[in-house]
Amino acid sequence: MGSLSAVKQDAIGFFSQSLAEYGDIVRFRFGPITAHLINHPTFIDQVLSRDAESFDKNTYSVRQIQATCGNSLLSANEQAWQRHRKLIQPVFQPNYMKTIGTVIDQSVQPMLSRWKGIAYQDGSVDVVSEMMHQVISTSAQILFGSQVSATLIEKSLDIILDDTWRRLQSPLAPSSLSSKFHRRKFKQALATIDDIVIGIIEERRKSRIGKDDLLARLLNAHEEEGVEGLTDKELRDAAITLLLAGHETTANALAWAFYLIAKSPEKRVSMDNVDAVFSEAVRLYPSIWIIERRAISDQTIGGYHIPRGSSVLISPYLLHRNSELWENGEAFDPDRFSEKNKHKRTRHDYIPFGLGKHRCVGLHMVRAVATRIIANVYQNFDLQLLNTGVPDLDPGITLRCSGEIRMTVQNRNTWI
Ligand code: HEM
Repeated sequence: MGSLSAVKQDAIGFFSQSLAEYGDIVRFRFGPITAHLINHPTFIDQVLSRDAESFDKNTYSVRQIQATCGNSLLSANEQAWQRHRKLIQPVFQPNYMKTIGTVIDQSVQPMLSRWKGIAYQDGSVDVVSEMMHQVISTSAQILFGSQVSATLIEKSLDIILDDTWRRLQSPLAPSSLSSKFHRRKFKQALATIDDIVIGIIEERRKSRIGKDDLLARLLNAHEEEGVEGLTDKELRDAAITLLLAGHETTANALAWAFYLIAKSPEKRVSMDNVDAVFSEAVRLYPSIWIIERRAISDQTIGGYHIPRGSSVLISPYLLHRNSELWENGEAFDPDRFSEKNKHKRTRHDYIPFGLGKHRCVGLHMVRAVATRIIANVYQNFDLQLLNTGVPDLDPGITLRCSGEIRMTVQNRNTWI
């Protein structure tokens, strides 16, 4: 079994300790899988960017995700990936993302109104569950332009991600009664999402009313690219991929951002620094805390042999806390990303959104959504932590915290 149980117990602690003990490249065995964790910007650049063609995504973890997303952007199949990336990337261009501000602002109004009532009663909120709910409702507005059942999607995505993570951690698990139970729940959850997404696609194909949401842009994506458009099955795969890739990642990043801001009240959030605040939050808590690739052929990284078929692991979380790259790296300091300091960063030491050809396609959407949600909240409220301890990490497919991050909510009158 190799290091499987150590990773199951405390993946980040175990990886961090291994790097401290053995240096920037460490080999592990997880059951039948041989993997190498690398934590040096030059090695990471080699795998994700410079020599990306020698490392693919045909990994155990991506194959598990494929069961949900089909052949889309998160898939292991290079041909399907290329076609989807070509069609989907232009839809997410920064210029379009600049136009979705009003949709985001409108989508947070119900939460803001509810919080006003809570503030009036001196109450508190759990920012983790609040953000999970808010992000799905904002994403549904951006993607489908409609109020689909955010709660139903949220619940189903939760089951899907949990089940996928369970399978990832147990590559050799026997088919026990409990795993059969989880599989059944997983299939039901997937069927629920399928019904919602396919229903919206069918309705949209029939309707003649022009819309300007992401789905409409995906439907017309082929026109500009001059290639065949996405079929209904491909559209379903793309929509589910975007929901799955964007929901927990953005929600967790926001919850951690609120936690970090509340922990350092002297570092006020303002219109001028909200972007830097978010950049610093995803440095300390990058939602995708681990990235995996497979060596297509025998490779050498930093003088070490990487056998064909073995895995390479990259952890943005550990890289972003590497003391050789980040001074006082454990501290929350948005000033690292201020205009005057931005140039000090290289593209290899800060990779919350990945690097190279698989870099996050939703990157500009995340920035727009997250910074606007933070701005809307701090325009209206002061949030204070109820519990001063550091929340425990619960790394799954995304970097969650275990339990709640509860905060008191007070109405605020001024905004700088
Ligand atoms: C804070 C939020 C987010 C973070 C930290 C994040 C991070 C990442 C990272 C690190 C990757 C690269 C994975 C790899 O190289 O294997 C990635 C890929 C991807 N992300 Fe995000 N992401 C976020 C939100 C989103 C959103 C909102 C969407 C869509 C609406 C999205 C869609 C995707 C897709 C489709 C890919 C695969 C791209 C490809 O392989 O071509 N992500 N993301």
